[in-house]
Formats: sequence, C-alpha cells, structure tokens
Amino acid sequence: MARRILVTSALPYANGAIHLGHLVEYIQTDIWVRFQKMRGHEVHYVCADDTHGTPIMLRAEQEGVTPQQLIARVFGEHTRDFAGFHVGFDNYYSTDSAENRAYCEDIYAQLEREGLIARRPVEQFYDPVKEMFLPDRYIKGRCPKCGAADQYGDACEVCGSAYAPTDLGDPYSVVSGARPVRRSSEHFFFRLSDPRCQRFLREWTRSGTLQPEAANKMDEWFAAGLQDWDISRDPPYFGFPIPGTGGQKFFYVWLDAPVGYFASFRNHCDKLAAAGTPLDADAFLRPGGGTEMVHFIGKDILYFHALFWPAMLQYAGYRTPSGIYAHGFLTVNGEKMSKSRGTFITAESYLALGLNPEWLRYYYAAKLNATMEDIDLNLDDFVARVNADLVGKYVNIASRAAGFIHKHFDGRLEPAADRARFAGEFPGLISAGDMAAELFERREFGKALRLIMLGAEAVNQFVDRHQPWALAKAAATDAAKRAELLHVCSSALNAFRLLTLFLKPVLPRLAAEVEDFLGIAPLAWADAGTVLPGGHRIREYRHLIGRLERGQVDALVEANRESMAAPPSQGRHAEHQVHAAAKGAAAPAAHAAPPAAADGKISIDDFAKVDLRVARIVRAEAVEGAEKLVRLTLDIGTETRTVFAGIKSAYDPAQLEGRFTVMVANLAPRKMRFGTSEGMVLAAAGDGPGLYLIGPDAGAVPGMRVK
Ligand code: 2FM
Ligand code: ZN
Repeated sequence: MARRILVTSALPYANGAIHLGHLVEYIQTDIWVRFQKMRGHEVHYVCADDTHGTPIMLRAEQEGVTPQQLIARVFGEHTRDFAGFHVGFDNYYSTDSAENRAYCEDIYAQLEREGLIARRPVEQFYDPVKEMFLPDRYIKGRCPKCGAADQYGDACEVCGSAYAPTDLGDPYSVVSGARPVRRSSEHFFFRLSDPRCQRFLREWTRSGTLQPEAANKMDEWFAAGLQDWDISRDPPYFGFPIPGTGGQKFFYVWLDAPVGYFASFRNHCDKLAAAGTPLDADAFLRPGGGTEMVHFIGKDILYFHALFWPAMLQYAGYRTPSGIYAHGFLTVNGEKMSKSRGTFITAESYLALGLNPEWLRYYYAAKLNATMEDIDLNLDDFVARVNADLVGKYVNIASRAAGFIHKHFDGRLEPAADRARFAGEFPGLISAGDMAAELFERREFGKALRLIMLGAEAVNQFVDRHQPWALAKAAATDAAKRAELLHVCSSALNAFRLLTLFLKPVLPRLAAEVEDFLGIAPLAWADAGTVLPGGHRIREYRHLIGRLERGQVDALVEANRESMAAPPSQGRHAEHQVHAAAKGAAAPAAHAAPPAAADGKISIDDFAKVDLRVARIVRAEAVEGAEKLVRLTLDIGTETRTVFAGIKSAYDPAQLEGRFTVMVANLAPRKMRFGTSEGMVLAAAGDGPGLYLIGPDAGAVPGMRVK
C-alpha cells in the first residue's frame, strides 16, 4: 500500500551561502525522497529558509538593508544552489511567513493552555550602546578558567571549558565594543521539566523513531535532567512577537524554525489547492492521519528535534515525528572544512566552475550510511571513484553496446524479449532490485551503490566474455554470430537500463538522459522485474557523463581559498608614504584616494573632503581565515566603527587595544567576506617590510578632526 510521507531537511539559515557541508543533508534527503517516489509512495519534500534571529538582524543592518531584503536575496541564492544540485523540493518556503506565524501562535496558545509556559526573570548581558541583550556569541572576554583573552561568551577556544557569559573577565560587546551591563528581563519558558513532558519523551524515545545512537543520547539527557527551554527574546529582534506581550517579547528563532516545516507544507497544500489538486494538510500534521513525518537533520541539532519539538507537538495537539534521521558532519581530506585551505567549498563555486553536480551526489551517496558518523570527502578518492564507477563501469556499458545496435540492426533490440534468459545471464541484477530497495529504504546508500556497481562489473565481464567487436566482424557472413551479437548487445542494454533504474535516486539528471537515449518512459521501481520489449528501438548513443579531472578539483579548492594577500597598491613611489591600511585599499574606488588633478596636485577643498578622525582602538581581533587582517573596533567619539585593516603582519592585535590612531571616517562602507569595513586607518609603509600605524600626540581624544 502506498505510504504517505512528509519529509523535511533542516532549514538553512538565511545569512550564509550553501556549501558542500550543507549538501550532505540535502542530497541524502533528496535521494531518499526520489527513491520513495519511484516506489510509488506519496511523498512531500518541503524545506524553507530559516530567517529569524539576531545574526540576520545585525547582518542586514551592517549591509544597510532591511532583514526582509537580506532574506529575499539569500532565498534566491539558496534556491538556485539547490536546483543546481537537483535537490527536488516539492516546496521551498520561508519561516518569515504568515503560515509560520499562525502555527507558532497556535502552538504557543495550546502550550499555554496546557500550563506548559512559565515566565521568570533572566539576568543577561545587555549592550548599553546598542541597547540590546546580547546572545552569548556576541560577548567576548577573558576565559574564567585559563585567562585567555577574547573568548566567546559560551566556551573558551583555548582551554575548551564551557561557562556562562557572566563568568567572563572584562567582557565586551562584539556588536559595539561597549562593556555590557547585567540586566534582568522576564523570559518565557517551555516547561520541558514538567513530568508530562518527561514521561512522554521517555516513551517516545523507545518508539523506534530514533537511531540507536540518538536514543542513547536521549538517555544521557534524561539522566542529566531536562531543563525548561527559554523561548522568548527581547526586542530588538527579527522574528514574530509573542501574542499578548505588546511587542515586548519575540519567539526565539529556534521555536519558529521547526514550525517552519509545517508552514512550508501548509503553503505547499495551498498551492496544490489553487492548482485544483487539494491536499489535506491536517492528514499530515494532526495525529491519526495514517501518514508519516520524517526529519533529516545534522547530529548537532538533535537536541532541538528530539526533545523540544516532539514535546511541543504532543501537547499542542499536533502529530509527532515518525522518523528523525541524523547524519554526521562533512570533513574534507579528513579535516574540518577550512577557508584558508580552500576546502570550505560553496555550492555556487562548484557549479560555476562547471563541475557536474551528479559527481558529488554519487560520491556522497557512496559514503553515506544510516549512522551519525562523519563522512569524508577525500578529493583524490572523489576523482578516482567517480571515474572508475560512473565512467569506467556504468556508462561504459552503454557506449560498448549501443554502437553495434545502430550499425548492424537499425537501432532495434532483438525481436523477442526473453526475460528468463536475461535473468539467467544476470541473476545478481534481478535480485539487486529488492536488495538495493531495502538498502535505500534504510539509508544505507553506500551499501546500495556497492551492490549496484557489482552488477555493473558483472555486465562488463559479460561483454568482455562475448566480445561483440569480434562477433560484429563475423556477422556479415555468419548468421549465428549476427544473432549472438544482437543478443549480447540487447542484454547489455537491458542490464544498463536496470542499473540506471537503481541509480536514478542518486543520478536523476543522468537517468533522464538515459531514458531519452533508450526511448523509454521514466523508470519506476516496479520496472525492475521487466525487460525492454522485443524489437524496441533505441536512439543513437551520445555522451552521457564526462570524467572528473584532478585539475578541476584543484581549481575548485583554489577558487575557495581565502588568501588575504593584498595586491600591491597602485602608484607607490620609493619614498615613504601614508597609505590606507584597510584591506579595502587594495581595490575598489570606494577606498581609493580622492581624485587628483592632471598635475597630480589636489586642492585644499579636495583634501577637506576626507574626514580624518582620531580614533581609539577599543578592540582588535584576528579575523579567522584571514591571515593579514585585524578587525578593529574604533571609538570615534560619537560612535564606534568596525574596520578591517591589513596590519596583522606588523601588530599583535592584543597590543593595539587602547591605542589611538587616525581613521578615514567618511569612506563608503565596503562589504567584505568577513563583515563590512566602515572606514580605514592610516599607516606608513615603505617598499620593504614594516608597517607603522599613525597615531596622534598625547592629549588628542576620540572624534577630533585631523586637518
Ligand atoms: O542549524 C541550522 O542551520 C538551523 N537553521 C536548522 C533549523 S532546522 C529546523 F528546525 F528548522
Ligand atoms: Zn580558557
């Protein structure tokens, strides 16, 4: 009987690009969904951008756009990248939507009615300059354990200890550089510690919904004791206001994110209704509808999906998930993805360089299983495996057989299809249908592909054994040889058709091209027991997939390598000169010198256009992944500015804090990979090494004009 399944992948944040790490999950889910659809099940695969929260609010502000403008742009980028990798969502939506708001409000109202919402004051750090409460990641200071400077508010990157931001020594706000103050505010909590939630979750954990490792994790969490979950944030916040709070409280982004699954599905149903094929959303979202709901996620967000989410749903009158499938992280060449090594590879760059998305889909599938183990993209192995399997084993079969069918038989297969004979020749391929199906079902994609490739090897051996090239030579004069040639090539193409069917969840585009080449309707799993009809006509063979060259992978890594080497500045003379130490000095006009007259002289008015200010360096931090840059937080009296300066070779950031320098305060902000640079500081440099920050004499104060 056909199953009815709602499938989701985690919603990507709308403040960053899709990269190869993300794609593990979307490709994994997409393969599973395509497989289920090929089996004849009704599947709705939905996703959305996760749009709310502080980082998106602040980033929009930095870029000088509204959050809505930012998320609209990112929506376009994300959907482009997913389509590029053939991730076939049935609907892709946004958490910043009316549907999401309505579901959040309803869930919240039900939980309140159940007595599962608590309110109590929480003391947190507050940025008095920016007038906002600071999430832990926006506070830095000295580690309370080891004393390391500039550590985030939740954990120390030097000694690894975790702590509360209130434990930090000399804390400062990453947003403004100001010293945060402690301030109390009322927060809303989902009462996960309520005995009802505890009871429900313990039972649910044993219901078979979770992978064994996930169930073990849950037991650890139960043992540690379930804490109430803080679901509110104070303004300014980009999100949904909590009803009844007069806009003084907002739902925390992690509350509205999973609800976004429902919102996207609802939007999908509404679109279907408008198209005249209505789908009852409640059959999937309320208990008892006889449907399934499965979430594919990364292991890092298990907590949200296996604790908060089912408990919320249970007590708000919605259905709970029937499957939560967590995968591990992606490593590249055995290491964490790294911008400086060029292994933090964006989906966009992969496609822009013309690499075939199905190469990656195949490689990921070959590495994936049903556990939470990390998977490694080994670049040498990637090249070797794609070429050996896809080109060398699979596509090779078609290219070996199709030419003879055209040349000698006018493109027609043997007149009488003989399934029994075919099954005798390729017993492994016939049984592979059920076995591969079981493996796809259990997300053991690597095992499924090994099985399929064993089949491809057997077909190649069959061709080798029968030597159609020798049969073709004899065919003109020997009718038996001619008949054998037709049979061997027909069998090989029938086998190729089956291999294509099994690979179709992984290689949907290639499968569509093969279907066209073979002149057949889209393959479904039920076709696994059949052979092509007698006398079936195929089209001329054409190139189906190319080899992956090592040079393409090297170019990809190069394109993603973040090198901060500043190109030499233009028009430098031998004598020492004051030059812009902002990274932006290297290129765009926005950070170039004011225009010069023909004789190279400028007027005093030209000079006066440059707003030079005394600045105090409030913070100076190394920029992760940028060898030469220091992120400076500058106090210029009336405001603080962030400037990225290429001075790391000359200065230890820690020693810059508290120093005075001179900045160009009226440069147009320049968006960089790491943030926006809002000006530049001045430094002297000659042609040799050495860089000297310009500073005023004692007595100057931040904001004074330099003229
Ligand atoms: O971890 C993340 O990237 C989140 N944006 C995932 C949200 S998944 C779901 F809950 F919406
Ligand atoms: Zn420490």
